[in-house]
Amino acid sequence: MTSIIAAIYSVLGLFYVLLFLFAAYSLYAMISAAPFVPTAKKRVKKMISLSGLRNDMTMMDLGSGDGRIVFEAAKTGAHCVGIEINPVLYYWSRIKQGIRPRKNVLFRRESLWETDVSHIDVLTIFFIHPKMEKLMKKLRTEMKPGALIVSYAFTFPGWQYEIKDDKIYVYRVER
Ligand SMILES: C[S@@+](CC[C@H](N)C(=O)[O-])C[C@H]1O[C@@H](n2cnc3c(N)ncnc32)[C@H](O)[C@@H]1O
Repeated sequence: MTSIIAAIYSVLGLFYVLLFLFAAYSLYAMISAAPFVPTAKKRVKKMISLSGLRNDMTMMDLGSGDGRIVFEAAKTGAHCVGIEINPVLYYWSRIKQGIRPRKNVLFRRESLWETDVSHIDVLTIFFIHPKMEKLMKKLRTEMKPGALIVSYAFTFPGWQYEIKDDKIYVYRVER
């Protein structure tokens, strides 16, 4: 009986630690770039198809949440990278990757503001409006010419998109 109670307390303890971590990092993420709001699966498919992603390309989801965009993109055979600051979301993505391993998927836990995007062919983002200008400056400076950015829901101020489909905007980096 005592060991059952101890097990229940351990599970509850772990749950509260995860909840605390998730809440603390969600707050940080909201201030840093965007809170965790997953893109609807139907729109994820649309984002990938609009990007024209192929198996000889590298894509990155900047702020990858539960990894859904990365996993969908991986179906094309492209090398796919998810960048996520929230450890709960990062490890959740890693667990999903462990359950159904895919060689072309990689998750990294780091701040997207520090991420090297210079080699990326297709970048997917779902930010919030106040952070779009700061992000635009980073991407226009660091990404290679010809690279595509697929943004869900928000546009970059003063930058004309190439494609608009519903709430998905596709930009091409130029020099
Ligand atoms: C709106 S969600 C998008 C999630 C996923 N891309 C999708 O569309 O389903 C934004 C994600 O960015 C992450 N994020 C926010 N600030 C970050 C930062 N500085 N570095 C890395 N990830 C960050 C959040 O934790 C959250 O998971």
